Amino acid sequence: MEKVIDESVQGKALLIEPNKANARKLYIESYGCQMNFSDSEIVASILTGAGYNTTDQLEEADLVLVNTCSIREKAELTVRKRLEKFNAEKKSRPHLKVGVLGCMAERLKSKLLEEEKIVDMVVGPDAYKDLPNLLKEVDEGRNAVNVILSKEETYGDIAPVRLNSNGVTAFVSITRGCDNMCTFCVVPFTRGRERSRDPYSIVEEINQLWDKGFKEVTLLGQNVDSYLWYGGGLKKDFEKASEMQKATAVNFAGLLKMVAEAQPGMRIRFSTSNPQDMTVEVIETMARYENICNYIHLPVQSGSDRILKKMNRLHTREEYFELIDNIKRLIPDCGISQDMIAGFPTETEEDHQDTLSLMEYVKYDFGFMFAYSERPGTLAARKLEDDIPMETKKRRLREIIELQQKHSLYRNQQHLGRVEEVLIEGNSKKSEEHWMGRNTQNTVVVFPKENYKVGDFVNVRISDCTSATLIGEAVGYSKD
Ligand code: SAH
Ligand code: F3S
Repeated sequence: MEKVIDESVQGKALLIEPNKANARKLYIESYGCQMNFSDSEIVASILTGAGYNTTDQLEEADLVLVNTCSIREKAELTVRKRLEKFNAEKKSRPHLKVGVLGCMAERLKSKLLEEEKIVDMVVGPDAYKDLPNLLKEVDEGRNAVNVILSKEETYGDIAPVRLNSNGVTAFVSITRGCDNMCTFCVVPFTRGRERSRDPYSIVEEINQLWDKGFKEVTLLGQNVDSYLWYGGGLKKDFEKASEMQKATAVNFAGLLKMVAEAQPGMRIRFSTSNPQDMTVEVIETMARYENICNYIHLPVQSGSDRILKKMNRLHTREEYFELIDNIKRLIPDCGISQDMIAGFPTETEEDHQDTLSLMEYVKYDFGFMFAYSERPGTLAARKLEDDIPMETKKRRLREIIELQQKHSLYRNQQHLGRVEEVLIEGNSKKSEEHWMGRNTQNTVVVFPKENYKVGDFVNVRISDCTSATLIGEAVGYSKD
């Protein structure tokens, strides 16, 4: 199914505008979540200032960096496979250096140097500003490691260079880390405690993107609803802030309002929302501003109260339904997507049926669905036996995916006959004669090119659909 992507199997070299003064070549590949792709843009920006230009040709690289993901075992295996390829490359060109960045670097630390003999450098997600120093050590023949997690670092002062950009849509990171401690999840260990980025630096970045012709930004965080700026520092230290800091603090609804008003022509999206932190104020703000897209990625993981509790998801099935009802009341045509985990420890057939019936209630537009993968060090790994046989996990996952496909088709059929605003992002994957873009609900729309171009907002009459794509025909520009 097209919409079920396993984040772990991405991996693409990133290219940026070269600086003529730079002599060395950086090949950087990213795996995992959008945040990693966004981080690679920050890394490329830092290294452009340290003598490196990017290349997408491994053969001409002096430095290979792999920005890694630890979310499921498969993600780590994919990276280890890739390292074998770099090993082969190193044999023919001994001067080539290899660095591991991101969540695997943080999780395995210097152990990675022993396990993967070809790795010269291990750098965690909060240590990228140290890269120029670490590279000096590597140049002098020593291995270099920095996996210190920070209370402050948000990279708010680094202008990311846009890599492989379509020139239309961009990611803007707004928080780092996560304090939620879902028992299955490795992110709080690899990305540290949650901290928010200065809202003025966020608005500034979006203003610059608008000036460069970008038309859509996605605000990124592991849990955007818990965004809270009170002058810097960890979210968990907010209680200790001064009265003045508390009075002038900006929450996620406040940030959305600032961004929407700063650039009324820019489409605004965000990801990811957590049901336990999403407020009605956020939904009301979305409803108030035309340029905030009607789409919420709202992972639930399971439909069973018993499993939600074991996952340390701090809401019940009923509370999730209330949230969904509020969304549909305030934004009737809001697109909603999910993340789901099949086969969490102790999950019974009844729990699984609860997941299917929750999906039946919501009828999500699309979803990202996974079999549970035990991650070392998490609370679930320490306290719960991974007791659901792989066969059962796979069968339950299949049932979840099949139901989602049915719902995606149902949701897409509701668009038939409507005229919807689409922002053109590029060629359709299947045909050079068609554009591909998205409507406000984030559903992919494909239509004949005519005289329109990438970056145009176009009204498209929807005439057909699959479970993954809407198909139509442009009837004019939607904006002057
Ligand atoms: N809040 C984050 C979630 C990151 S992980 C965000 O911004 O998306 C993305 C998804 O991976 C989770 O929602 C969950 O469905 C899945 N996931 C996380 N840990 C997992 C594990 N141990 N096994 C299987 N799936 C997992
Ligand atoms: Fe992971 Fe839960 Fe945070 S899924 S990223 S601990 S919200």
